[in-house]
Amino acid sequence: MAHQRVLVTGAAGFIGNAFLRRLLETDADVQAMTLDALTYAGHRENLEDLPGAARHVFRQGDVASAEDVAAAFAAFQPDAVVHLAAETHVDRSILDPAPFMRTNVHGTQVLLDACRAAGIRMVLVSTDEVYGDREDGTAATPDSPLRPSNPYAATKAAGDLLALAAHRTHGQDVLVTRCTNNFGPRQTPEKLIPLMTLRAQAGKRLPIYGDGLQRRDWLHGDDHADGLLAALARGAPGRVYQFAGGRGRTNLAIVQAILALAGGAPTQIEHVGDRPGHDRYYALDDAATRAELAWAPTRDFEPALEATVAWYLANPAWCRAVAGEGLRTFLEANYEARGPA
Ligand SMILES: NC(=O)c1ccc[n+]([C@@H]2O[C@H](COP(=O)([O-])OP(=O)(O)OC[C@H]3O[C@@H](n4cnc5c(N)ncnc54)[C@H](O)[C@@H]3O)[C@@H](O)[C@H]2O)c1
Repeated sequence: MAHQRVLVTGAAGFIGNAFLRRLLETDADVQAMTLDALTYAGHRENLEDLPGAARHVFRQGDVASAEDVAAAFAAFQPDAVVHLAAETHVDRSILDPAPFMRTNVHGTQVLLDACRAAGIRMVLVSTDEVYGDREDGTAATPDSPLRPSNPYAATKAAGDLLALAAHRTHGQDVLVTRCTNNFGPRQTPEKLIPLMTLRAQAGKRLPIYGDGLQRRDWLHGDDHADGLLAALARGAPGRVYQFAGGRGRTNLAIVQAILALAGGAPTQIEHVGDRPGHDRYYALDDAATRAELAWAPTRDFEPALEATVAWYLANPAWCRAVAGEGLRTFLEANYEARGPA
């Protein structure tokens, strides 16, 4: 079913923005509202050159505020919500879990309540991190136990469970999606790929947590967005859908590739103390989702990584604009100050 009025939370951030763009460009009839609090990770710049901009409206608001959410619903009258607003940085969650509890847990319940009252579908966007470390090397299925390793992942798991409980208790039309690591344009440069790209170009040291052999699966944000469009249109209530790239890479290999693309020296790489509780391996089994939603990623990893690195290097004005004081302070504390391993 095509939804005509879609409220997207968190679309001033990275994946929400990729999703909003795909939504507006693939459905000429859709109207969209962005609800975003514009935290340090939300950027008005991301909403500037939208395709179909006349069919989009921005509203600043907090998903953890029932008043803000009620006002957005009253103003826009959505017929579906795709919920991507979240606190998303694991290192920040270790330093201070409170905003993660508020946005990822309480905010998700506020939106669930609002969607239930309005009788509309909600898609909750979640992560492979809820399964924790796949130490045995197997890919997690939706039936695998949730064993989150850090406060970020634990709050995401809590949101997922609240959504699934709302389906079980109230028969609510809500579905959960889980995805592996995303990459692409417009990601706040505190995350691995944009951070290392900008540091490599600037000739700064590239701090690698521990041995750098933690393995992640990478999916382009536009492929993830296409999966979310499919889940919104064709997903079944109460289901968990999984999106994976099927391209595991170690963090060290990613940084080496970035170094080659951005033009830095191998001596810039420096191993620093590992993140506490750092998971070694994440993997998702997305076979059922591919079959049920007729979805598959379309972008090859190496050329997509090259294009992503090129995007950050070609957009210094965007990089400067998004680097507010909150981001600079965090980068200083988290990366600059980390000593060698
Ligand atoms: N980045 C990844 O690799 C990845 C992978 C799998 C799943 N996810 C999930 O996808 C979603 C989006 O992730 P992202 O990387 O784009 O995040 P992001 O940090 O880039 O953006 C988050 C957005 O949410 C907004 N926001 C934060 N708190 C808010 C609040 N209380 N009310 C309203 N808006 C608020 C921010 O302003 C920002 O625009 C998250 O739910 C995340 O858990 C991310």
